[in-house]
Amino acid sequence: MKLWGGRFTKPTNQLVEEYTASIGFDQRLAEEDIRGSMAHVRMLGACGILTEEETKTILSGLETIRERIRRGEVSFSVENEDIHMNIEKLLIEEIGPVGGKLHTGRSRNDQVALDMHLYVRHQTVELVRLLVGVQEALIAQAEAHVDTILPGYTHLQRAQPVRLAHHLLAYVSMFQRDIERLIDSYKRVNISPLGAGAIAGTTFPIDRRMVAEELGFDGIYDNSMDAVSDRDYLVEFLSIASLIMVHLSRLSEELILWSSEEFGYIELDDAFCTGSSMMPQKKNPDVPELVRGKTGRVIGHLVALLTVLKALPLTYNKDMQEDKEGVFDTVDTLTGALALMATMLSSMKVNVEKMRENAQSGFANATDLADYLVKKGLPFREAHEVVGRLVLYCLEQGKTLTDCELAEFQAVSPLIEADVYEALQLERVVDARNIPGGTGRQAVLDAIGNKKSKIDET
Ligand code: ARG
Repeated sequence: MKLWGGRFTKPTNQLVEEYTASIGFDQRLAEEDIRGSMAHVRMLGACGILTEEETKTILSGLETIRERIRRGEVSFSVENEDIHMNIEKLLIEEIGPVGGKLHTGRSRNDQVALDMHLYVRHQTVELVRLLVGVQEALIAQAEAHVDTILPGYTHLQRAQPVRLAHHLLAYVSMFQRDIERLIDSYKRVNISPLGAGAIAGTTFPIDRRMVAEELGFDGIYDNSMDAVSDRDYLVEFLSIASLIMVHLSRLSEELILWSSEEFGYIELDDAFCTGSSMMPQKKNPDVPELVRGKTGRVIGHLVALLTVLKALPLTYNKDMQEDKEGVFDTVDTLTGALALMATMLSSMKVNVEKMRENAQSGFANATDLADYLVKKGLPFREAHEVVGRLVLYCLEQGKTLTDCELAEFQAVSPLIEADVYEALQLERVVDARNIPGGTGRQAVLDAIGNKKSKIDET
């Protein structure tokens, strides 16, 4: 007999039962569901809607079921559709008809919303913790590589030399924004929908604030219809998650490029790579590749949920059951990626010489020669032109700027003097950018300090 069977004259079609059931995936909400039910029952007791005796019996029944679920002794059934009705059924089996009082003044609509709020709230905190882990791994490498210089790129062409620390700290900044986004979203997640009932509230004199407080919520939804139909906080969660994945994917792409023979900048630890079944020499960066690839599915979940919600009339519609799998899969995907990324970064080896060689062998110091000329009085636009011609000359000659004789420099501009070699020296070039947010040594050390204190605040 279904919990809602009274109005029906026929059993549910077997295919319909399987098609509509969510127990296959929403059993993940068992802990949240029981926690919410316990708070609800305590409130019903406190408000005199249930007797003390009934309250106690239901609470201890729920406790027993929670233990049995934790021990893996419970098998959920499709017949009972979802986690909410499965648990209610188990409760009634456990303590008898009094278990049927649990659902007083409540609907599955506010119940499922409550469970998801509890779930996402917890995951939001977890994600912040994992993001901090990645930041710490990046900062540790940054500290080890304050004096490692590599070419910075635009258009994937060598642009200007930067400290490796500076490059890695850019990701720390991105993840910092992600953390701030999660923290900000928390205030919209941490609102209790319970008491909204199916749609319009309940006729029982319940205390919505009491349950909300017991469950650690900062407040309650101020409109029952919004409470049961709001999935914005899930869209927001998926959107933040997508952006985190995009950041991880960009980082992954660099790790993949950098570990190629063509770059040769880093070597990922053997434990994070796999081999080829045919080519004995291969060591493939599968982990960053998969992180990059899995970014697609997380973005997909965001788009899927937006598409589900678009044009849904108020309030609850069964379509909304589709909100869960994408969120769960996003949590799994992101959790795995963040945990792996932190250890992979910590264990990667940096080829300091190769980075330096590339920073030196191109024309990454060309801007500095232009700036040098500007400081000698030439307008920047003219200086740009002069250095452009010199670069062209060097390319024809197969040499770099610093390979040029003073006479060669002076052939393009008499303003260039012997001090040019000093101005174009790699460390000088990098340290010339010692402004806040720049790649100069002191600026980078300051940035590391700032990032560390930001993490301590988090
Ligand atoms: N399994 C449902 C879901 O995930 C629970 C809410 C069902 N409510 C309803 N009125 N059918 O959305």
